[in-house]
Order: sequence, then structure tokens, then C-alpha cells
Amino acid sequence: MSTRPRISSRISAISESATLAVDAKAKAMKAAGRPVIGFGAGEPDFPTPDYIVEAAVAAARDPRFHKYTPAGGLPELKQAIAAKTLRDSGYQVEASQVLVTNGGKQAVYEAFATLLDPGDEVLVVAPYWTTYPEAIKLAGGVQVDVVTDETTGYLASVEQLEAARTERTKVLLFVSPSNPTGAVYSREQTEAIGRWAADHGLWVVTDEIYEHLVYGGAEFTSIATAVPELADRVVIVNGVAKTYAMTGWRVGWLIGPSDVVKAATNLQSHATSNVSNVAQMAALAAVSGDLSAVAEMREAFDRRRQTMVRLLNEIPGVFCPEPKGAFYAYPSVKELLGKELRGRRPQSSAELAELILEEAEVAVVPGEAFGTPGYFRLSYALGDDDLAEGVSRLAKLLAEAH
Ligand SMILES: Cc1ncc(COP(=O)(O)O)c(C=O)c1O
Repeated sequence: MSTRPRISSRISAISESATLAVDAKAKAMKAAGRPVIGFGAGEPDFPTPDYIVEAAVAAARDPRFHKYTPAGGLPELKQAIAAKTLRDSGYQVEASQVLVTNGGKQAVYEAFATLLDPGDEVLVVAPYWTTYPEAIKLAGGVQVDVVTDETTGYLASVEQLEAARTERTKVLLFVSPSNPTGAVYSREQTEAIGRWAADHGLWVVTDEIYEHLVYGGAEFTSIATAVPELADRVVIVNGVAKTYAMTGWRVGWLIGPSDVVKAATNLQSHATSNVSNVAQMAALAAVSGDLSAVAEMREAFDRRRQTMVRLLNEIPGVFCPEPKGAFYAYPSVKELLGKELRGRRPQSSAELAELILEEAEVAVVPGEAFGTPGYFRLSYALGDDDLAEGVSRLAKLLAEAH
């Protein structure tokens, strides 16, 4: 009998996505008839707009799309993504600098796989989205956390980044608007960080998937546009999921210098080949159309954002800075830990989240999933009534803590 482990050490080191795990548990409870309200999901509660669906239906009927197409994406979609990037970010790229991927997730994975050698360090601002650590680890990279908190609205400063930089630092991961905090860097802050990265010869991987979801006076700034001297070392990750309510269609992209895109395309050609042509044609309709669908969603999210932040801040022991983008609130619940609640004394945000799911039938994702225990992430991409009911259940339960 072989004594070798059944699962490779690389793959067994990957943890289950904590956000999907909470969502799955909430859905299972719901299926069992319990009236669970889920704040876990990272997806808009809107259907994909009709004209996008129609484009997919037409593509499904066209025999041209029943065959393999270029692994790096349909030429017309790559062209449209280049045009959309110029329209939305003011960043000029050739179609050859675009790789169409199976969602933004695959773009994240391929960006790190393409850039990192074993031991290369990546600066990651915490709280961070759960997928980044696993993608970095799989590529052999070493994640170096730059921890932020509610006192700065979860924004990292150049000084903090510089303190974390070493000889081995290769990449800065820059995410604005951020999942899970909703933090958005101003143009000045983005420029300062981009210039610092350029001065030290760092690569920047920037995730722009929430570019169109900013609220109030906040503005999205692409670090690639803000600091043109980064052009040779910047990789942009983006996709249609959040902007067009297309999470299930699985279309994203990566934009970068030609050599990086060529290398990542080679990787993709062996891993997955072309993204489904039907989904690519839907994405083509999305990115070459206008932004009215996202404008409508933004209005609803903004309203829910304000309601949620107000209600959360009314709960004793909860403090929630105002999120400026994406569709998440990230309150601190540190003051509640160690207090007694329904005969238990949760010591961590994970334990408190579990108790809340059981006692109030409300699902939130604990900060442990994002590298910062002591917090919850609540998505406000759910209906107004559910949102109000969910937060009021939360408030009622947490008021019992003593
Ligand atoms: C910050 C961030 N980047 C990328 C993605 C990937 O999105 P998708 O793979 O659905 O395109 C997500 C999805 O939750 C996200 O929150």
C-alpha cells in the first residue's frame, strides 16, 4: 500500500470558500423550511437584462458558435472589451492585450499563476476577498498582509505598504471598490499608491470588477490610468458578473502587457480553452451596450446601503463605517465578543455568526473568511424588505448580549 497522501499537498491546502459555505448552509436551512435571510451572497438580486439574454439565444442557434473558438476569446469580444476599457477607465489597450476568462475568478488565478515564482511575495490589503490567498498559494507565492481596520475606512496608506515591502515583493494587489469592505480609494490615494509601486518596480494586479458600483461622492479610478508609467507592469481583472447581473454566465477578462497575456493564454489553452461561446456573445452585448442596467441597480443598492448602515450602527456593540462601493457592509462586532447571548459566550466572529444563523435565522459571513476576525460581511444585494427584516432580527438578538 502506498503511504503517499491521496490528495496533493498543494490542493489539500486550499480551504473551502467560506462565503459559499455560509450561503450553502443558509440555503440548506431554507430548503428545510426555515425562513432564513441570507446576507452572504455576493451577487445582484436582479435578472440579467433581456437584450443580453437575447444575444445568447441567437448565439446558441448559430452553428459558428457550436465549435471551438480561439482559447483567448472571440476577437469581436476582445475588441469590445478594449473599447469598453477606454470608455470606462480611459485606459487604451489593444485587443491583443485582452484574455477572456471563465469569470473574474479565473482571471485572478491566471494573473498570479503567470506572474509568481515560488517565494515571490504579494502585498494584500486585509480584509481581502477569500479567493486571493488561494490563488496566490497555488502559484507558489507568499501573501503578505497589510492589515487595515474601520478607523481608516479600511484604506491602506503608502506608509503601511512600504513597511510590508521586502526584497521578495513582486506584486501589489490593488482592489477598489473592495470586497468585503466597500472601501474606495480616491484618485489622489490611487495615484500615490500606484506611483509608489512604479517607483519600486512592483507589478500591480488590480481587480476592477466593482468599477461601476460606487455611491455618493465616491469615484472609481483605475490605477492603470492614474499612473501611466505602470503600463508595462499592470494586470487588470474585470468581468460582467457584477455590472450586468451576470454571475452565472461566467465571463471575465484579464488585461495586461502582451507577454503576460500571451503566457496566460497559453495556460488557459491547456486548462479550459475558450469560454462558452454563448456566454461570450452575451458578454459582447453587455459590454458594447450602455450602462443603464447598472445605473438602475446602483440606485437600488445605494438606497439599501444607506438603510443597512444606519440600522447596523443603531445596534449597540456594532460599528459600521460607510461603504463607498461594491455591495457589502463590513461592521466591527468586536465589542460583542465574549458577552453572553442565549446561554452562550461566542469568543469569535465565526462563533457569533453561527449563533446568529441558528437563533435569528440570519446568515452573515464572519470576518475570519477575509483575514480579519471580529467583523461581519453583509451583502446588501438583496430585496429591501428582506434587508430590513434581516437587520431587525439581528438587532433584536444582539440587544440581548450582556
Ligand atoms: C473582488 C472580486 N473579484 C472577482 C470576483 C469574481 O467574479 P466572477 O468570477 O463571478 O466574475 C468577485 C466575485 O465575488 C469579487 O468579489
